Amino acid sequence: MPMSHLPGTSAATRPRVLIDCDPGHDDAIAIVVAARHTELLGITTVAGNAPLDRTTRNALIVRDLLGIDVEVHSGADRPLVAPPVHADYVHGESGMDGADLPEPVRPADGADAVAFIIDTCRANEGTWLVPTGPLTNVALALRAAPDLADRVAGISLMGGGTFGNRTASAEFNVWCDPEAAATVFGFRGPLVMSGLHLTHGFQATPERIARVRRIPGRLAAVLADLFDFFSGTYVSRHDGLLGAPVHDPCAVLALTHPELFEASDAHVAIELRGEFTRGMTVVDRRRLLDRPAPNCRVLERIDDEAGFDVIDEAIAAFSR
Ligand code: BDR
Ligand code: CA
Repeated sequence: MPMSHLPGTSAATRPRVLIDCDPGHDDAIAIVVAARHTELLGITTVAGNAPLDRTTRNALIVRDLLGIDVEVHSGADRPLVAPPVHADYVHGESGMDGADLPEPVRPADGADAVAFIIDTCRANEGTWLVPTGPLTNVALALRAAPDLADRVAGISLMGGGTFGNRTASAEFNVWCDPEAAATVFGFRGPLVMSGLHLTHGFQATPERIARVRRIPGRLAAVLADLFDFFSGTYVSRHDGLLGAPVHDPCAVLALTHPELFEASDAHVAIELRGEFTRGMTVVDRRRLLDRPAPNCRVLERIDDEAGFDVIDEAIAAFSR
């Protein structure tokens, strides 16, 4: 398989980023890395790991813990077609169980995530959309405003992969709203996929969590508690994992620290109908000359030690 290091943004240049998320323990870490290394234009929330009111509340809490002045707008409270399903078996009832979290200081800035995405991308050409939850909001924005496809720098998402977690073949974010994922994977602009075959190589081992706990300040203490809970649910439900795969920050690191990754280009389709495969990202690995043109940069491997160094430094920068 052809491999290459991702070209593009260096750590010295801060990409413009809008995060669409469903916090979620690992979404919270993605926000921390984005706050440190991007020009973060906003945070939008979607139902996924927990119902929308909880994912929005969690995003507000993360904003407060970081002390950043970034707008938070809530969006879709359910997938386009599929029934709503949440992931309390991984993230707990609140979506971010495991830490003593403060009440949000102020409410969300709006319940209009789709309009906020459209307006922000139009006002800031060259923005990267970074979805780390089900793709409902982003699909609705692309459908309502087809001009976004040419205005954004691209979409770097956490989802999919060459194996599943919610089912044997489907990853949770894509499985939750496959119709939305099909719109996003068909958007025809630069698309970067951080799938499970990548993120399972990026685990919050006990040693790494202990390192976070040794960072002084409140943010680090809260995140260490969140890591403990998140890793606890993963380790207790799997064979052979040392800690939770820290999925969502990979979609941010792909833009801010591309040198950490090996990647390949491939055509990726979303399976919408299969009895056992609905929500699967079908990655075309064939070497046939006559195959569909790539529509996706598939991240294959991450330098996990260096990636966790970036996370630790970002936490330390905001932990007071
Ligand atoms: C994805 O699903 C959620 O549980 C995580 O936050 C991540 O975005 C992994 O399948
Ligand atoms: Ca997520």
